[in-house]
Amino acid sequence: MKVSSRVRPETMSIEQLAETAQAMVAAGKGIIAIDESNATIAKRFAGVGIENSEEQRRAYRELLLTTPKLGEHISGAILYDETIRQATKSGVPFTKVMMDNGIIPGIKVDKGTQPLAGFPGEMVTEGLDGLRARLEEYYKLGARFAKWRAVINIGDDIPSGTCIEANSHALARYAALCQEQGLVPMVEPEVIMDGSHDIDTCFEVTEVVLRSLFDSLYQNSVLLEGTILKASMVLPGTTSGEKASVDEVAAATLQCLKSTVPAILPGIVFLSGGQSDEDATAHLDAMNRMGPNPWPLSFSYGRAMQSAALKLWSQDLVNNVAKAQQTVYARARDNGLAALGQWSKAA
Ligand code: 13P
Repeated sequence: MKVSSRVRPETMSIEQLAETAQAMVAAGKGIIAIDESNATIAKRFAGVGIENSEEQRRAYRELLLTTPKLGEHISGAILYDETIRQATKSGVPFTKVMMDNGIIPGIKVDKGTQPLAGFPGEMVTEGLDGLRARLEEYYKLGARFAKWRAVINIGDDIPSGTCIEANSHALARYAALCQEQGLVPMVEPEVIMDGSHDIDTCFEVTEVVLRSLFDSLYQNSVLLEGTILKASMVLPGTTSGEKASVDEVAAATLQCLKSTVPAILPGIVFLSGGQSDEDATAHLDAMNRMGPNPWPLSFSYGRAMQSAALKLWSQDLVNNVAKAQQTVYARARDNGLAALGQWSKAA
């Protein structure tokens, strides 16, 4: 069956979606995730003693998005509902600042996780109700891709098949709606690092989760040519006591992805998930050095792009803006080099 025969008549042209998806993973470029919900940014601000007001959140996002030359290594930024409506202090909408710098606006569209009833310790992501209308509005506001994050915890007897299926189904429903509205879905099934599991368990869980996800995407007529996967890396649990080398993590992650992700996907970007800045960069770099791979592999880091800058800014909100921006730029450059397999520690 030809792929085009599965395109619903009302669907945006696949060429447009594919073009956006390819631009998101252009050579040497990746995504900065600044889509923390107000509750999540509150935690990040509290960690460095910054007050969580709407103006502070705006000022912080302005700092990030106006980083000089950011577009050299950043293809897109994921925003939160509040942020996509905000502007610089001088009144330029953030989406305009981004587009003027060649940075594609993206938007987080899930409404966060809730406990999955009947399955202690497991979560399901909500946000499908009313999603079509929200996507329509976000498109008008300038967004061209949208992210939905599912959370899969590893523990005693979890994840369950029910949790994996519920999350895959929601991801596929959201992805189909995104494509209908002209937005590239960035599907994110995050296998959480926390736990005492070993790297092999993380591999097995990630493999099952990705098989389930791509099955659901197929069942829901999602066009893979216009989809980006945001993946977690295959790592030992944070409290396992196990140490895996950079090459072990890279090899395990690549093997898992190669056995589950169709080659027609335009690209895969990784979340950092609590890894150190250096680990996140080194792992990406190693995977690209092990190539050629079936798809471009790049980054969509939140913490591993921002934490150094946030710390610097917190030390002097007025005078440290330029210094913090230099850090953002340096992280973008390092991760951009890692997306090419050209990063070196000393660089
Ligand atoms: P981290 O890189 O901090 O994990 O954030 C990426 C993200 O967008 C998680 O949804």
